[in-house]
Amino acid sequence: MKLDNCTLISLPKISDPRGNLTYIEQTGNLPFDIQRVYYLYDVPAQAERGGHAHRALSQLIIAVSGSFEVTLDSGSGTKTILLNTPWQGLYVCPMIWRTLQSFSSGSICLVLASLPYDEADYYRNYDEFILDVRKENR
Ligand code: TYD
Repeated sequence: MKLDNCTLISLPKISDPRGNLTYIEQTGNLPFDIQRVYYLYDVPAQAERGGHAHRALSQLIIAVSGSFEVTLDSGSGTKTILLNTPWQGLYVCPMIWRTLQSFSSGSICLVLASLPYDEADYYRNYDEFILDVRKENR
């Protein structure tokens, strides 16, 4: 089941009294090649981001600062994950409707993406997503 593939991936953490360091390398254990990086910041506490699915895009979502929740919906189940650990990323595979909410003050959401930005890859209509994902799962 698709939701089971969407798990937390642990990243390397170099602990140091001067502050910790986490790095991400293409050669690491990521399930996809990184073609794009973007980040969300200054997100108001009551705001909801996401609210869409992707046809082909894979992502790794990381709370590099603060915390927020990610709700994943595969069309046949949902789960909500609290992200608050800079050395862990949530892998989100294609054909998953996602919403991000409950951003803490000053939080930063870093996203590694497998493809360049392409509006044609988005489902922005939930009913259209549900129709297609259920067709795919049949
Ligand atoms: P969107 O993906 O809907 O934001 P989120 O999922 O974080 O809530 O993108 C918001 C706007 O930004 C939309 O007009 C598309 C644009 N955008 C880009 O131009 N490039 C990008 O890499 C991303 C992620 C978004």
